[in-house]
Amino acid sequence: MIKHEIFEKNSIVLLIGILIVVSIGGLIEIAPLFYLESTIEKVKGMRPYSPLELAGRNIYIREGCTSCHSQMIRSLRDEVERYGPYSLAAESMYDHPFVWGSKRTGPDLARVGGKYSDEWHTEHLLNPRGIVPESIMPGYPFLLETPLRYKDMKDHLISNRMVGVPYTDEMIETAIEDVRAQVDPDADTDGLLTRYPKAQVRDFDGNPAVLSEMDALIAYLQMLGTLVDFSAYKADGPNLR
Ligand code: HEC
Repeated sequence: MIKHEIFEKNSIVLLIGILIVVSIGGLIEIAPLFYLESTIEKVKGMRPYSPLELAGRNIYIREGCTSCHSQMIRSLRDEVERYGPYSLAAESMYDHPFVWGSKRTGPDLARVGGKYSDEWHTEHLLNPRGIVPESIMPGYPFLLETPLRYKDMKDHLISNRMVGVPYTDEMIETAIEDVRAQVDPDADTDGLLTRYPKAQVRDFDGNPAVLSEMDALIAYLQMLGTLVDFSAYKADGPNLR
């Protein structure tokens, strides 16, 4: 009791005491993460975003989709049943910045890829209430008319590489033609597909005449959560489902 008095009567001592206790707690929680090999578990299938997907992700961030949508399925039964296998750290290892989000006004989008058709997404982004009458999501009709700015995609790849995304020199060199190839079903996509396996190639917004921001955003939405093959995980990996 007596020994405690010094903390209770002197706010500076109390403050120092708090700092010491909190930093011990912090060290114990944070320090091991730098040594554990399994902080990010290794998974098959993860690759950097294709330039078109990356452009779509930039639009996703620009339009503030993160303020209503999370991309982080928690390891809780109701989430796993609704959205699919819970999110792994490795799935966002190429996200700079990450877009886990902290608010779910709309559903989680971590595994929305392949859930709907491209037409569904186009209609929904043009006018959400045309598809879901009670929706409070805003419409984004201008995305369909705005040509995608992709001349600077090389720079986007370069800056991602600076923060650790393994884009190769070849990927950076071909960034602009890869954007074009991914929206053109007639293009020669062998190179694109070796660089970015599982990249989906087609005109996404229903208007082949314009390479629009809508194309990029839908290409991004359609690949979310599709890279890791979770059927391969049942046997040896974590118990995902
Ligand atoms: C004001 C909050 C809000 C914002 C901002 C918002 N959304 Fe939504 N979103 C919702 C709500 C609510 C729903 C559920 C109703 C519906 O489907 O429209 C939804 C549904 C969706 C769905 C369907 C998900 C599913 O599994 O059914 C997609 C895809 C989607 N939004 C994408 C986007 C994208 C992309 C953006 C940014 C361009 C965006 N949203 C911005 C609120 C929002």
